[in-house]
Amino acid sequence: MRVTVVGTGYVGLIAGLGFAEFGNDVICLDVEAEKIESLKNGKCPIYEPGAGDLLERNLRAKRIRFTTEAREAITFGELIFIAVGTPEDENGNADLRYVYETAREIGAYMNEYKVIVDKSTVPIGTSREVTKIIQDELDKRGEALAFDVASNPEFLREGKAVGDFLNPDRIVLGVESLRAEKKLRKLYHVFVRSKKPMIVTTPETAEMIKYASNAFLATKITFINEIANLCDKVGANAIEVASAMGADGRISPKFLHPGPGYGGSCFPKDTKALAGTGRKYNAPMTVVESVIDANERQKELAAEKIISAMPDGGRIAVLGLSFKPETDDMREAPAITVIDRLLKTEKFQIKVYDPQAMETAQMVLPKDKLQWCQSTKEVLKDIDAVAVLTEWAEFRNLDSELLSEVMPGGKVFDLRHIFDRREMEEAGLQYIGMGF
Ligand SMILES: NC(=O)c1ccc[n+]([C@@H]2O[C@H](COP(=O)([O-])OP(=O)(O)OC[C@H]3O[C@@H](n4cnc5c(N)ncnc54)[C@H](O)[C@@H]3O)[C@@H](O)[C@H]2O)c1
Repeated sequence: MRVTVVGTGYVGLIAGLGFAEFGNDVICLDVEAEKIESLKNGKCPIYEPGAGDLLERNLRAKRIRFTTEAREAITFGELIFIAVGTPEDENGNADLRYVYETAREIGAYMNEYKVIVDKSTVPIGTSREVTKIIQDELDKRGEALAFDVASNPEFLREGKAVGDFLNPDRIVLGVESLRAEKKLRKLYHVFVRSKKPMIVTTPETAEMIKYASNAFLATKITFINEIANLCDKVGANAIEVASAMGADGRISPKFLHPGPGYGGSCFPKDTKALAGTGRKYNAPMTVVESVIDANERQKELAAEKIISAMPDGGRIAVLGLSFKPETDDMREAPAITVIDRLLKTEKFQIKVYDPQAMETAQMVLPKDKLQWCQSTKEVLKDIDAVAVLTEWAEFRNLDSELLSEVMPGGKVFDLRHIFDRREMEEAGLQYIGMGF
């Protein structure tokens, strides 16, 4: 099939590559010329394991192209996926300006029947608004072209995006016409063989499924974080609690890892947008509202743990900056809040290192106030403490002997539970966890 993807970020790029990998003819459109240039040259502008190989293979097979020309991209696809960003606006709602801009361009350039598919995470009712914008543009042109708007939310996780896209848990299709449903079923036919559940529903339900899923996962993380905070006070071990809870098939062990709060490009903005929708329709999302507050407190609490254990400050190595491992995405990373709080005390000299997010981190952290290191070895020199903010695999290999050598009697703030308390304490280090 001829597929157009608008937006080549974490979702659009992986979706475009995935559709190409399934044998479709794909064109990806973005407004960022630099990104498109890099992609044309086979260079992935984001760090996402496996994406580089897919890019190379599909460029070589001529199944994927990249462009900044909206007309070219929009006239090409029989299916047009909207995968542009929907960041948070100043009131905490989803900022839909890029989605609407794309809709206007589609209306301005489309030349035949198209199925326009919202893959971006958009508030309930957006597909109706997109339909209206496209129709208005067509009316302005005096064109009577048929089109359908569908919703196909994306559930991939950064860091595992390729695997998730090629092997999803489920496909959700929100469609209103049989014609659109047929086209989407044909595109996703590859998953029928692997018996992936395909949920075909209305656009409103599809939009809600995405928000409800993300809000639920954010709630699960926040729940175990609060249990961990209480474990700290009463002398219980939150890791053992989570593990025993997770053994219950109704609960599952996933998303039950205590830490410094969730971050990333999705959970923070999607929980706020859902809470906002609840307020708008007078159906309060009280659980989600308190999750949002509790998560903010959790990031502060993580910083507070460090500050109260080091009242005179000191030299600290921050291990990991990205909001989770295997990505260079710094959006809403807990490291931002924690580092900001430490700097505010004016008592800490902070060294930082992340295996992939150094460049993106320099855009959001105060560049001149931190010492940027190029390796784990370098960040561990001349320090009094380490704080693990992202559980990258390479930090897991740090053993207690090495740490006690570089900072005898030093403090280990293991905010992601990658070390063993007993081992650290036996090496004379002071171990501080989050409920463990
Ligand atoms: N990142 C994730 O893990 C994830 C997972 C599931 C869903 N989502 C959702 O998918 C959407 C995209 O997220 P992302 O992380 O890929 O965003 P992103 O910011 O990484 O990428 C968005 C891209 O869209 C481009 N763009 C903006 N306006 C455009 C226009 N008019 N024409 C062409 N390109 C345009 C931007 O230049 C950018 O490259 C969001 O709604 C997000 O909530 C994200």
